[in-house]
Amino acid sequence: VLSKFGQRVLAFPTVNQPAVRPVIDFRYGAMSADDFPTLPWKQAMNRAILRKQSQLSYSDPGGTLELRQALQSYLARARGLQCDAEQVIVVSGSQQALDLCARVLIDPGDAVVIENPCYAVARELFEAVGAKMHFIPVDQDGMRVDLLMSQPRGRLVYVTPSHQYPLGSILSVSRRQALLAWASKVGALIVEDDYDSEYRYGARPVEALQSLDRAGAVIYVSTFSKTLSPQLRIGYLVVPHGLVTAFTAAKRLMDRHTSYPTQAALAELLNNGVYDRHVRRVRRLNGERRATLLDAVQRYFGDDIEIEGADAGLNVVLKFRALPWSKERKLVEAATAASIGVHPLSPLYDRSQGRPAEAGLVLGYASLSLAEIERGIQTLAQIATRSIRPRGQRS
Ligand SMILES: Cc1ncc(COP(=O)(O)O)c(C=O)c1O
Repeated sequence: VLSKFGQRVLAFPTVNQPAVRPVIDFRYGAMSADDFPTLPWKQAMNRAILRKQSQLSYSDPGGTLELRQALQSYLARARGLQCDAEQVIVVSGSQQALDLCARVLIDPGDAVVIENPCYAVARELFEAVGAKMHFIPVDQDGMRVDLLMSQPRGRLVYVTPSHQYPLGSILSVSRRQALLAWASKVGALIVEDDYDSEYRYGARPVEALQSLDRAGAVIYVSTFSKTLSPQLRIGYLVVPHGLVTAFTAAKRLMDRHTSYPTQAALAELLNNGVYDRHVRRVRRLNGERRATLLDAVQRYFGDDIEIEGADAGLNVVLKFRALPWSKERKLVEAATAASIGVHPLSPLYDRSQGRPAEAGLVLGYASLSLAEIERGIQTLAQIATRSIRPRGQRS
């Protein structure tokens, strides 16, 4: 009964979260309900719903002009990104942006280049459409673009240049230039997933890769899942002029358009300064969570752990120096049994390139209170100590 696509998706999970939520959940992706700007959002939504309209008809598949213009000016002031409003396409989260890229640009068998390790649902999406995946390792300067040079072809490259997911490195300027040069040589397009660039601690924000692109090779993707809520399901793309029509037509066939009241409320908050103030507030709050986390990790783990990716974003990676990756699953299971939610790192790597040497965990902190972070790290350290030195062997 199933199409080839239908058969391929069976390999992937059908749920986003485990059925039982841990008491302290470091699982990456959730945001604190307390941080959401409830009152301004409610007022803006009310105004959107009460707006006088002669009829409730479908609206523009690419997004309302009002929101696209608001995003164009936000991108210019916050990301140094220049574009026309017509290049902005409003979608139901980055995931739909990637789905659009896959549908419009990828045929089964086409080569898609992705970071190793990478964001799992991006990889799964490209695999589901039948792409041939090429994994490029990541180091402290982001994707090893030098290894791409021997790659004679590629339809699309998916990168997270501002904060590599999950390891957190920032793609260096020379690699950005090399990536753009390679893409133009082989005729590939670059999908820049700029999912959490609002969060950069103690350093100047890095400009978007798109702002260096002179050839129209970069498709910029961003989301409101990290500043407002992943439950809203709203994000956007900035596509090169030549791709606007295909992306808009495909979006119309997918779901006609993204929720109109949500777009209207968001446009209002972008235009009246509330959103920018909110971003400054959540940046400060998440900076406090990050500082608490780093301090607790230092106190409870000391030299047992190496922390990666803490300069930006809403997650860090803990690498356990004394624990081989084969113990990683046990560590996650023991944490789950103690009601601490954590993501294992190794499943985010491509198996054909081998596993990382040590056990690693991806920890998201944006949904937790400072007290929960402290208690969670303390408990995790106790669990890890037991995993490193099994019962009876402790000194
Ligand atoms: C790399 C990356 N891209 C995008 C997103 C956001 O996805 P969406 O906008 O579909 O909620 C996340 C969230 O976890 C992410 O880690």
